[in-house]
Amino acid sequence: MSSLLVQQSGPVVRVTLNRPEVRNAFNEQVIAELTAWAKSVPDSGARVAVLAGEGKAFCAGADLTWMSKMVGYSREENERDAMAMSAMFNALDTLPIPLIGRVHGAALGGGTGLAAVCDIVVASDDAVFGFTEAKLGILPAVISPFAVRKIGISAARELFLTAARFSATRAQQFGLVHAVTSSAELDPAVDAYVRELLTSGPEAIAGAKRMIAAVAGQPPAAVA
Ligand code: COA
Repeated sequence: MSSLLVQQSGPVVRVTLNRPEVRNAFNEQVIAELTAWAKSVPDSGARVAVLAGEGKAFCAGADLTWMSKMVGYSREENERDAMAMSAMFNALDTLPIPLIGRVHGAALGGGTGLAAVCDIVVASDDAVFGFTEAKLGILPAVISPFAVRKIGISAARELFLTAARFSATRAQQFGLVHAVTSSAELDPAVDAYVRELLTSGPEAIAGAKRMIAAVAGQPPAAVA
């Protein structure tokens, strides 16, 4: 896999977006590889996954060069690409093992979307998030179901409309980020979560993830 680094050590797999020259912006190749990786997880023996970005940033969102090519695509081709991107977010969102986001530097547009499908996000205090799409005259359409569910309608109304960049501390206030650290403490903080997760039962974790998705937004009587 050329756009991803996948390193597994026993029960822990680290997946690193590996296009640092474009701040790990994702194109159709990254989407295909990340989706394929997510689908391979159940057979990998991994019990915890860490998603990170190589170089200066976590992920600068959709690759703007790729997106500018899409302007010339047909409606069917655009829909096909949107569906592939949606399938990637969905595959990560429904991973049967915990997915920890290790966020440093920029996590913009779809990069913030990737954070939204992680179970736990640890961010360094230099991280910058943003649903920046409206600044480009487009919508955060594919990531919206995941993002709105994660941050709530009020924060989404503010942040999708202003498309303003925001800090890790701000992101923690509405639950997108779970821990904010200095750059030096980022990996130790991620490792502490990994160790904690390895002491929980894998089937209980997979069941808890399915259960949370099933009960979210439901009245208790409907799921009793
Ligand atoms: N798609 C394609 N290329 C991108 C990119 C993206 N989303 N984000 C950054 N790059 C490229 C830049 O064009 C530049 O390429 P170059 O070296 O050929 O000029 C390279 O990555 C480095 O970018 P640069 O802006 O110089 O790096 P930086 O570290 O100062 O800033 C960002 C990084 C991510 C903060 C900044 O590049 C940025 O704001 N990018 C736009 C992100 C965005 O709007 N994403 C939402 C897309 S919907």
